[in-house]
Amino acid sequence: MKDIITLGIESSCDETSVSVVKNGREVLSNIIDTQIAIHEKYGGVVPEIASRNHIEAISRVTKKAIEEANITFDDIDVITPTYGPGLVGALLVGLSYGKALSFALNKPFVGVNHIEGHIAANYITYKQLKPPFLCLLISGGNTQLVHVKDYTDFEILGKTRDDAIGEAFDKIARVVGLGYPGGPKVDKLAKEGNPSYELPKTHFDNLDFSFSGIKTAVINLNHNTPNINKADLCASFQKTVTEVLIENTLEALKQINLDTIVLGGGVSSNSYIREQFLKLEKQGIKIYTPDIKLCTDNAAMIASAGYYNFISGKTDDLSLNAIPNLKLN
Ligand code: KG4
Repeated sequence: MKDIITLGIESSCDETSVSVVKNGREVLSNIIDTQIAIHEKYGGVVPEIASRNHIEAISRVTKKAIEEANITFDDIDVITPTYGPGLVGALLVGLSYGKALSFALNKPFVGVNHIEGHIAANYITYKQLKPPFLCLLISGGNTQLVHVKDYTDFEILGKTRDDAIGEAFDKIARVVGLGYPGGPKVDKLAKEGNPSYELPKTHFDNLDFSFSGIKTAVINLNHNTPNINKADLCASFQKTVTEVLIENTLEALKQINLDTIVLGGGVSSNSYIREQFLKLEKQGIKIYTPDIKLCTDNAAMIASAGYYNFISGKTDDLSLNAIPNLKLN
């Protein structure tokens, strides 16, 4: 069978990334131009600034991705930009660039759901991994349990009713004075602490999550406790949210009668969460955690998801618009 070369484009938030991937699994290049330093001083991503920086970066990043993959534009079989969810102005940069390339090169074009990309990061990390499996998606914009029935067939079994878990990490980092981006900083500080603070867990009678209660409890504790031990607070937060993630994930796994859990999204790079999930292997459960470099936003995962959409017969026309609140399925 002929190889299929996918050009993935990702610009949904503050990373401009372009990647060349062969047959959905082999990364020939994955260039990531991050804007973290630009947004750091504002304590979070400023949408307008993100869009402007994507515009400045996109051609340069694409050129670098093509060069590093050692191909020409002619070798590309399909162009696959993210079209949602994300910041609308930011999404429009990558999407419009992808459309323009598709038109100029006369190559097919498939819009990719960013959430599918986070799942597909695992197909790059684990060449043998195939659906079906249960995916726990934990990122800055999403927290959901997804039954991945096939490469393009998903059922959401549970989701957050308020904050995404990454938002909670970022908020807590800000409150305790660690700055942006918060998740990795909480992860690092928690290593120096003990989970000595009692924090509330929210459970529902289904598989949904809620992180606003624990977030408020951490904020109040930080505010009302003189000389609070910030490392202990971060460790307590991490331990409590991880327990909730594991409880719901195990229940979901039982409901769909599978034995494989796959993590995805930026928060799946958290060292404590990974460690606790990997402990479940002792119970005979297979655990897959994506390569750390592929956990946060990157175009390789988008190219991989784009490949699976393309070979399942999906193509889009140039009227495809960005959808900031795009859902799975
Ligand atoms: O997947 P991602 O890059 O963006 C979305 O697609 O939403 O995830 C970004 C989120 C941010 O909230 C960031 O703080 C969090 O992932 N994050 C982490 C860690 N690394 C990134 N959260 C906890 N621990 C980490 N090590």
